[in-house]
Amino acid sequence: MSRTWKIGIAGLGTVGGGLVEFLAARPGFAPQGGTAVVTGVSARSRSRPRAFDISKFAWFDDPVELAKSPDTEIFVELIGGSDGPAKASVEAALKLGKPVVTANKALIAEHGAELAALAEANNAPLLFEAAVMGGTPAVKVLREALVGDEIVSVAGILNGTCNYIVSEMEAHERDFSDVLAEAQAKGYAEADPTMDVGGFDAAHKVTILAALAFGCAPNYAAAEIEGVEKIGLLDIQLAKLLGYRIRLTASATRTPDGISVRVHPTLCPLSHPLAQTVGPTNALFIQGTRIARIFLQGPGAGAGPTAAAAAADIADVMTGAVRPVFQVPAASLKPPSAIDASKRVGEVYIRLMVKDEPGVLAAVTEILAEEGVSIDSFLQRPVEDGGAVPIVLTTHETVETAVRKVAERLAALPEVLEPPRIIRIAGA
Ligand SMILES: NC(=O)c1ccc[n+]([C@@H]2O[C@H](COP(=O)([O-])OP(=O)(O)OC[C@H]3O[C@@H](n4cnc5c(N)ncnc54)[C@H](OP(=O)(O)O)[C@@H]3O)[C@@H](O)[C@H]2O)c1
Repeated sequence: MSRTWKIGIAGLGTVGGGLVEFLAARPGFAPQGGTAVVTGVSARSRSRPRAFDISKFAWFDDPVELAKSPDTEIFVELIGGSDGPAKASVEAALKLGKPVVTANKALIAEHGAELAALAEANNAPLLFEAAVMGGTPAVKVLREALVGDEIVSVAGILNGTCNYIVSEMEAHERDFSDVLAEAQAKGYAEADPTMDVGGFDAAHKVTILAALAFGCAPNYAAAEIEGVEKIGLLDIQLAKLLGYRIRLTASATRTPDGISVRVHPTLCPLSHPLAQTVGPTNALFIQGTRIARIFLQGPGAGAGPTAAAAAADIADVMTGAVRPVFQVPAASLKPPSAIDASKRVGEVYIRLMVKDEPGVLAAVTEILAEEGVSIDSFLQRPVEDGGAVPIVLTTHETVETAVRKVAERLAALPEVLEPPRIIRIAGA
């Protein structure tokens, strides 16, 4: 006889609401596992108007109590936040040996190793497909489909809000603040956009992918993070003249020293698949020693796609198709490693605003030559309002420490009117 699974959902916002509606419409979506029926819910406000009826579910003011309820067989955490009620309720469920499904990247990126250990000690699945790339499968791809390969790197666009902003800026020649305000008004961006535009959301996601790809403990604290908030329309226009689009990229790479995890704006050649990824879409390259390169692209957020990903995790619990949280047992997760940033090489874009005076270029190129940074191309634009002249240099491959030294020395030149803007250029 087909089994009925009782689902407790904490958080009834975008994702939680999407999941409630999905399970109401298709409780038998995973027939081999039985039927999934929501029995209890928790949110901040019971009286808040919602697009779906919650009157038939048991209500819990406290998500921890929902997690502990004998009527909750699978606990779904869709509240968000690395700590607080999200963490407390997930821990409560795992301690009781209950399967947990979550979309919470902050929680998994910041506490993943301890939660994996807790899950394993209590023989409880902990699944989080929806936490990375929303409805586009990435977690399962790394944890299950690619377990037979050795991953070299994962890299892509993991924050749809930032990609929407830079795409709009380029397409309609609008300023960052203008597009951000519109995105907030339309609900594409949070009222406090720091997690998105500061690169932290993408860093949470790529930290999780790094753990899955390389069997290492999630190490969010070691991620190098730079957001898009300093990207101006001028840089987007100048990049385009040079044949590039600016994207916020997130990457995790296996190096001889350990795992390098970073988020930063990147100039991608116009024909590059990441440059071709526009709007809120997410995209990811996975490079492996046997598979060579795989490219995933799709929706990174939204009620429908994200609820579909959470439902896929529920199906895995129901059918018993569950693997270790990060592909290897928690006790075997490799400890965090420190990366020596001075060894990194790459090409960069350097944009300066300088006084319209003779001799400026000579002073600039002298500094680059003294620091051993060789110039690949040079572009000068007409004088802007206020007498400033934008100039752009792109470099050949160079070590990052030399670029930092160049930036410091250029900023100190009296002819340079604002701090140089340095943006990395994507490798082939
Ligand atoms: N939105 C997306 O497209 C997306 C994509 C991938 C992953 N995620 C992740 O999914 C999770 C949920 O995101 P969301 O966009 O659905 O968030 P949201 O729309 O802000 O909803 C959050 C929900 O949590 C409830 N809540 C807040 N504090 C609570 C508390 N102390 N106890 C119980 N419930 C509480 C809220 O209650 P009220 O409704 O009463 O305010 C609301 O229902 C987050 O971890 C997020 O990072 C979201």
